[in-house]
Amino acid sequence: MLPTAQEVAERAARVVIEGVRAALASGRTEPVIGLATGSSPVGLYTVLAGAVEAGEVDFGRARGFALDEYVGLPPRHPESYREVLLREVCGPLGLPPERLHVPDGSGDSEEALAAGAADYERRIAEAGGVDVQILGIGANGHLGFNEPGSALTSRTRVKRLSERTRGDNARFFDSLDAVPTHCVTQGLGTVLDARRLVLVASGAGKAAAVAAAVEGPLSASCPASVLQWHADAVVVLDEAAAVGL
Ligand code: GLP
Repeated sequence: MLPTAQEVAERAARVVIEGVRAALASGRTEPVIGLATGSSPVGLYTVLAGAVEAGEVDFGRARGFALDEYVGLPPRHPESYREVLLREVCGPLGLPPERLHVPDGSGDSEEALAAGAADYERRIAEAGGVDVQILGIGANGHLGFNEPGSALTSRTRVKRLSERTRGDNARFFDSLDAVPTHCVTQGLGTVLDARRLVLVASGAGKAAAVAAAVEGPLSASCPASVLQWHADAVVVLDEAAAVGL
């Protein structure tokens, strides 16, 4: 727990950089970082961009795998997670765009989306798995877009977004109606396969979810509680987010 959002960002960035260095030291020439979207990791990405500029870390040979994507947004929609990550991560961190992988939410049938999800799992495996996974947490305890009730061993698949999550994310769209109803998300089992997890949360709105995730029972009713199952999960919080602990 740290006093300010800036310190949260700096500590979490440190964990990511150490994860990348550990991967390189273990002989992985193309380290893989798992990328979250949303407001929570924005400060962390800014700190990482500064570290790149200072020559402390280099993402030129890294690969990035997004946690999730909306279903059915038009190609190049500015709020699709592919576009968000191209803008907020690839550019500032020097991660080449062709090294960014995002689940395919463009399939026009259940079968096409399921095939895309299975292909995404294959691509993560072919890249050797995720070395360090950045995570935020939803106010309802979701991880990626794994809403409460998600199977603890789930893999990448299509999910319906809860109305709470659609409401939370409406701020990125013109109206609530414009928020997609479905997504493709890495499963909780997929997330757990990463070698290291770093979850960042700040603000009072996350306090209940953080308390349930860290100190509650391991349960699908709080998907982020799966972190308790992971041997190398770091949770970095500001005071407001930690108030329930
Ligand atoms: C979003 C994303 C999650 C994110 C969470 C919290 O909908 N799919 O990956 O961690 O909800 O978002 P925020 O950080 O904006 O509060």
